[in-house]
Amino acid sequence: MKILLTGCAGFIGYHLTSKLINENHKVIGLDSMNKYYDINLKKYRLGNLKNNKSFIFIKDALKDKNKIVKLIKKYKIEKVVHLAAQPGVRYSLVNPRSYIDNNLLCFFNIMEACKICRIKHFIYASSSSVYGLNKSQKFNENEKTEEPAQLYAATKKSNEVMAEAYSNLFKLKFTGLRFFSVYGPAGRPDMAIYLFTKKIFENKKIKVFNYGNHARDFTYIDDVVNAVYKIITRNLKKKKLHQIYNIASGKSEKLSKLINIIEKNLEKKAKKIFLPIQKGDIIKTSADIKKLRKDYKYKSTVSIEVGLTKFIDWFLKYIKS
Ligand SMILES: NC(=O)c1ccc[n+]([C@@H]2O[C@H](COP(=O)([O-])OP(=O)(O)OC[C@H]3O[C@@H](n4cnc5c(N)ncnc54)[C@H](O)[C@@H]3O)[C@@H](O)[C@H]2O)c1
Repeated sequence: MKILLTGCAGFIGYHLTSKLINENHKVIGLDSMNKYYDINLKKYRLGNLKNNKSFIFIKDALKDKNKIVKLIKKYKIEKVVHLAAQPGVRYSLVNPRSYIDNNLLCFFNIMEACKICRIKHFIYASSSSVYGLNKSQKFNENEKTEEPAQLYAATKKSNEVMAEAYSNLFKLKFTGLRFFSVYGPAGRPDMAIYLFTKKIFENKKIKVFNYGNHARDFTYIDDVVNAVYKIITRNLKKKKLHQIYNIASGKSEKLSKLINIIEKNLEKKAKKIFLPIQKGDIIKTSADIKKLRKDYKYKSTVSIEVGLTKFIDWFLKYIKS
């Protein structure tokens, strides 16, 4: 199958592209290679993909809808996976404009191109952050998502609403993916697991917000890739053409536990600075994954202990290389 995948030099995009090309699909990968975090990590990921004949890389920032249409036609693209975005919850307080440009305007451009080309399936990244200030113990896809805690969440929620309108109006198959704190080898340096590991490794102090009581549904990258791969390749037919799924492990872990596991793996003690909760932070995320389990026979297979060990093995090799 021929797939257009945006954000292919990003963390999730890189792993998903690897899986797709290993399974003999052809991937046309797009990425703007922005400098939100260390560009060398993006180059490293691309370097691992580039030798494969089933992968074509195009540097593009999705600013021009017509260019995307041309690309889809040129490569006879059947499905589009849109992962490119400005991520990060805290950065949305620093540079809100980037979220409007990358998460709203680019989303519109690609969705519009999919409409024009009558793409068979448009799969896009949303986020667990859409649950915002919802106090539910386990977030279910049907629950309220009208109270985003920051602009990042607001743009992801907007994507879902825009997708709903287009899918209904133009009878297009769309699927939104609410990812929950994804981690693993080649993971994002702006996220807690990478930040903590690096600082503990370098004997530097770590800031532990909400005194370590934040809890997250941490999801190992292989589980994410397997779930998304199934969504792309199985032609599940549902009456409603726009579907949304939680992509998570289904198990919430406290930050304090995570730090303990990192300490054990690195054989180092963390120097912790305990701090109160920050503006825009969510205390706990925990996903209900019944829908994904039922529709795609999804199972989360990697525990936080095993996943963190794999991440740290990669991290130690990467920083020494
Ligand atoms: N990693 C997580 O835990 C997580 C959680 C929830 C949602 N998400 C979402 O999943 C998607 C992938 O996340 P990730 O962790 O791989 O992030 P990432 O930042 O590693 O990857 C995103 C990639 O998109 C590219 N990009 C950004 N704007 C672009 C544009 N306008 N045109 C082309 N490329 C552009 C970036 O250069 C980057 O390489 C994002 O949409 C993100 O919001 C991720």
